[in-house]
Amino acid sequence: MSESVVAITGGTGFVGTHLVKRLVAEGHKVRLLVRSKAPDCQLSHRNEIELVHGDLDNLSALRKLTNGANTVIHLASKISAKDRDEFDAVNVDGTRNLAATAKAAEVGQFIFISSLAAREAHLSAYAASKKQAEQELINLTKFSEMPWVIVRPPAVYGPGDKATLPLLQALTQKFAVLPGRAEARFSLIYVDDLVDAISGLIGDEETLGQTVELDDGTPGGYDWPSLAKIAGEVGGQQVRPVFLPRTVASAAAGAMELGAKIVDKTPALARDKVHELYHINWVCQNTRLQTAGTWAPKTRFSEGFRKTVAWYRSEGWL
Ligand SMILES: NC(=O)c1ccc[n+]([C@@H]2O[C@H](COP(=O)([O-])OP(=O)(O)OC[C@H]3O[C@@H](n4cnc5c(N)ncnc54)[C@H](OP(=O)(O)O)[C@@H]3O)[C@@H](O)[C@H]2O)c1
Repeated sequence: MSESVVAITGGTGFVGTHLVKRLVAEGHKVRLLVRSKAPDCQLSHRNEIELVHGDLDNLSALRKLTNGANTVIHLASKISAKDRDEFDAVNVDGTRNLAATAKAAEVGQFIFISSLAAREAHLSAYAASKKQAEQELINLTKFSEMPWVIVRPPAVYGPGDKATLPLLQALTQKFAVLPGRAEARFSLIYVDDLVDAISGLIGDEETLGQTVELDDGTPGGYDWPSLAKIAGEVGGQQVRPVFLPRTVASAAAGAMELGAKIVDKTPALARDKVHELYHINWVCQNTRLQTAGTWAPKTRFSEGFRKTVAWYRSEGWL
């Protein structure tokens, strides 16, 4: 059992909750940056989980978080925001603050969970902010001073995820109305597999200084018709995909943005998100962890979909 201290941001989010559970089970001492109350499953592990209260702009909290840590895993991120400035404040400035603090604390390894979106930085403010955050980390940390690895997951799904709920919910219907294109291809990863890969990166020297993409091992990824077919087989009924025209999705997003602006809230769907959803190629290309044999995903969509839908149903989300 390892006794290394792993400092984590974003540990209260979807991926973070799964990751923290896994690392505690593996015997790591975990230190979390939390802004609000940590989930009960984390509060009940007081011996293994230390909480540091603060935000990514709170330098004193970041010093407490990183001081004496062997590894930092940076998951915290704005996933939706009103505008580019709001994304940048957390994703770019927050990453720079954390990386600088970790470097000063002589942390041995910085694992940054970016996104496959960073490969297509022109598509959205979120994608651009993740790409810029990667660049900030690279610029700030010369390889010999603080070794880093950047992980770019594709869409992550699994129990507890609210972001993919509407899409998976659509796939449980006879007619699945989908915001996307029939010919688009994309990779997916089940949350347990992502957590497994991140855990395997702790202390791994082979990947230092690299940017890695990782998926569920399906060559060439999926398209919506193939997901509908799998969902139909799992659910025992034929699922027919119905593609929402991009103009309709853009118009709906525009209206939501306007409504949200009036009440100063984040829109449920923004035009930027439509650009991401209608992009034709979200297939991971640089899956070097898989090709090097250091990690292997276990869950293809048929099993992941079944488990996730079962969890949604058990929690009354579906
Ligand atoms: N889910 C996906 O499909 C996916 C795909 C590719 C990449 N990723 C990346 O994976 C990471 C985790 O994603 P997720 O789906 O788990 O996101 P999530 O559920 O939205 O969780 C975001 C986490 O970031 C924290 N956070 C947000 N703003 C913060 C701030 N200013 N200071 C400190 N903490 C802050 C949140 O804390 P609170 O609980 O206090 O709000 C939460 O713990 C992100 O970096 C994301 O870009 C996710």
